[in-house]
Amino acid sequence: MLVLGIETSCDETAAALVRNGREMVSSVISSQVPIHKRFGGVVPELASREHLDKIVPVVTEAFEKANMKPSDIDGIAVTVGPGLVGSLLVGVSYAKAMAYALDKPFVGVNHIEGHIYSVAFENPPIEYPAEALIVSGGHSNIFHIPEPGKYKVVARTRDDAAGEAFDKVAKLLGLGYPGGPVIERLAREGNPKAVPFAIPRMGDGLPDFSFSGLKTAVTKYVRENGLTPVTNGEPPSQAIKDLAASFQHVVVQSLAKTMEKLALEYYPKTLIVAGGVACNGKLREECRAVAEKLGLPVYFPSPHLSTDNAAMIAAAGTVKLLAGELAGLDLNADVTLRLQNLDLEEEAAKRAGVRYRL
Ligand code: KG4
Ligand code: ZN
Repeated sequence: MLVLGIETSCDETAAALVRNGREMVSSVISSQVPIHKRFGGVVPELASREHLDKIVPVVTEAFEKANMKPSDIDGIAVTVGPGLVGSLLVGVSYAKAMAYALDKPFVGVNHIEGHIYSVAFENPPIEYPAEALIVSGGHSNIFHIPEPGKYKVVARTRDDAAGEAFDKVAKLLGLGYPGGPVIERLAREGNPKAVPFAIPRMGDGLPDFSFSGLKTAVTKYVRENGLTPVTNGEPPSQAIKDLAASFQHVVVQSLAKTMEKLALEYYPKTLIVAGGVACNGKLREECRAVAEKLGLPVYFPSPHLSTDNAAMIAAAGTVKLLAGELAGLDLNADVTLRLQNLDLEEEAAKRAGVRYRL
């Protein structure tokens, strides 16, 4: 089964051809980072205009690279949400028009579900139940996945997403956008114990994340210690490198420790870590250590599949198309689409002998 994936939820226009949900035939990503860089974040109006410009050449290139033609595909999968409305609409409208013109089935895919399927390519098949940490610029969640397509959010961020925190702290320190890669690079030369930031914990005891307080703590530290943000590409001071390392350390600890805590509660057979922040080497290291401690396999997408791409959308869409989950021409973008369709209590009652501590 050959599926065309289309992704335009944020600032990447992407198209990919994927065979049988696991084999990448071609993948094209047109990044808008250079356009949004000078604003320190994504400007929605510029993003949708750029998607309009790029969608046709990107899809065309995906077919050219694969040496295939549109009539070769068996279906189309497109991101329907969550994301920026103007951006999502470009992909959704294009996919609908193409499906109609070719008379092919198509399906809408949740962007977060796409990130989960980004591990489908270079890893063994996922064994369920699985636990997935999805960390990107817009999301920080841990999902309990008892079987394919069933999701329960077991940890979420109360404020900023992890990637957003990297981006905001980088902006504050004058390091540019996106913040994750540059903070990771500087952190390699810094001392992660230099600034003892506390891991944010919830007053109500739930295993959720919170990163905005950390951003405030970084701001306060910069002010109180008279640190000057980096300007005009000057080399960053050791104090900035130490601060970057300390910030990264506490974010990584918060994510990895929560993953461990929840694994001890839900007994997954596989751990998954995906989304843009999963590019982070320290996060991978910590999650590998957690997996080893628990005796579980942990799957990461390779870096080009960690950030937004269309191959992951095609992989997730293949499962839906095979299950006969088809969309109609009334399919619409859903900016606040959530990924949760499971009532754990109901599920626990159905599975005699399996107990969940709720
Ligand atoms: O998944 P993605 O491409 O887009 C969203 O769906 O948000 O993730 C982008 C996010 C950005 O916030 C970026 O700073 C972060 O992923 N990121 C990183 C790293 N590479 C990208 N964060 C930490 N360390 C990295 N190496
Ligand atoms: Zn994403």
